[in-house]
Amino acid sequence: VTTLVVAIGALFTWLWTDAKVSTVGQEAFDNVLAIPPVAGSTVDKDGTRVFDLRMRAGRTEFRDGVHTPTWGFNGSYLGPTLRAERGEKVRVRVSNGLDDASTVHWHGMHLPARMDGGPHQMIEPGDTWTPHWTVDQPAATLWYHPHPHGRTEEHVRRGLAGLFLLDDEESRALPLPDRYGVDDLPVVVQDVRFDGARLSGDRGLMQNVGFLGDRTMVNGTLRPYRRVGDELIRLRLLNASTARTYDFGFPDGRGFSLIGTDGGLLERPAVMKRVQLSPGERAEIVVRVRPGERLMLRSFPQDGYGDAWQRRFGGGDDSFDVLELRADDRLRPSPAIPDRLVASELPDGEEAARGRHFDLKLSGVNGRKMDMGRIDETVTRGTTEVWTVRNANGMPHNFHVHDVQFRVLEVDGSPPPPALRGPKDTVFVPAGTTVKLALRFTGPPDPEVPYMYHCHLLYHEDQGMMGQFVVVEKGRSAGTPPDHGHHARGTDYGSA
Ligand code: C2O
Ligand code: CU
Repeated sequence: VTTLVVAIGALFTWLWTDAKVSTVGQEAFDNVLAIPPVAGSTVDKDGTRVFDLRMRAGRTEFRDGVHTPTWGFNGSYLGPTLRAERGEKVRVRVSNGLDDASTVHWHGMHLPARMDGGPHQMIEPGDTWTPHWTVDQPAATLWYHPHPHGRTEEHVRRGLAGLFLLDDEESRALPLPDRYGVDDLPVVVQDVRFDGARLSGDRGLMQNVGFLGDRTMVNGTLRPYRRVGDELIRLRLLNASTARTYDFGFPDGRGFSLIGTDGGLLERPAVMKRVQLSPGERAEIVVRVRPGERLMLRSFPQDGYGDAWQRRFGGGDDSFDVLELRADDRLRPSPAIPDRLVASELPDGEEAARGRHFDLKLSGVNGRKMDMGRIDETVTRGTTEVWTVRNANGMPHNFHVHDVQFRVLEVDGSPPPPALRGPKDTVFVPAGTTVKLALRFTGPPDPEVPYMYHCHLLYHEDQGMMGQFVVVEKGRSAGTPPDHGHHARGTDYGSA
């Protein structure tokens, strides 16, 4: 019995320490940060901007001489940055060169449900899906990634993700750093774990937060650095990790200006020292660098993980160096960040037509697991609603709603902190927390094809922490979703 107790104790100690990973100061950041290329496009006779994306398998050399099997769009890992202008018509030809059926979802985009790329818009191997829509929302840092029901974590973790940047007249007129890859850097943060040459998808024993890696990458680069030659550097931070939440800041505690959140620019910049991002969230920050310095972007330990056990496995208790900025000895002067950025287009929730409640548990939203054939909520086109979302679990969750950018009205009854005052499509909901959101649904109506809301910790989404809503004309009711359930294959978390 004693031996058994000692053995179990040793196992727990091992599990405990194994999950805790800190990379601070341990390694030289000496790989040049890759910048995802801006996707080429053509313009049709009717003015539509046309992009091509192809999902395919390949091999990526993350480490010298080691070729890792990965998936990517138009390349072996991640995808190009799509870029379009407000008011522009876009069409994307998405072809599937994989052996697996998948989808491509435009995270943060306001568009018709059948163009959304959720689990109902499956693309079979060899097929091409061609969604099209008119960009009708402010300048923003959006992204795209697969959304096959039950397989999203695996497909994203293998490398399928990319940025979708939107511009508009106001964003162009502002004196913000905007030279892509120069003083305006895409920062796609993911955590990975290698199992020999392969990417591991092992969630480890006894933890149900989802896949957590033991090292971070930015834009697919391990230990990245980037030379910068301007005083002000804009970082478009995207947490494209499957489960890990980051709290970004700088080791010397310097402040930076938060200028944008998930769905676009803020009314005014907010000076802060840390910005927390759970999976799927974005933040645009501007930081001042000093001539000749090396400045590390780091993720710090954070609150909001419930009890110690969940905290340990919730991915928020570690420090990570993420990206080193190496400033030139002589820097180009940058114009000051203006005090006012853009006018808010967010609903304030005052004239809300109705309220809804969502209880988040790993076992489901409002006690129900995702069912592709069931419409959970029917909302009326043109109305504003207030959604109250409560984390009723002892583990971290977040909440993402397709099609809309919402306003966070309250966090646990108080006004939201500055980082949650801009347009949001995903919000972190730590254990025991309740958030109140104002959402405005502008359609177009489609009683049959639903949009999704779900936890963006991708394992949770895959486990069924997801529901479906349709937008209908006043007085109409929901139809029946076309059943594409037969395309969804069983969850298989075998090694990559
Ligand atoms: Cu980024 Cu429904 O997902
Ligand atoms: Cu969750």
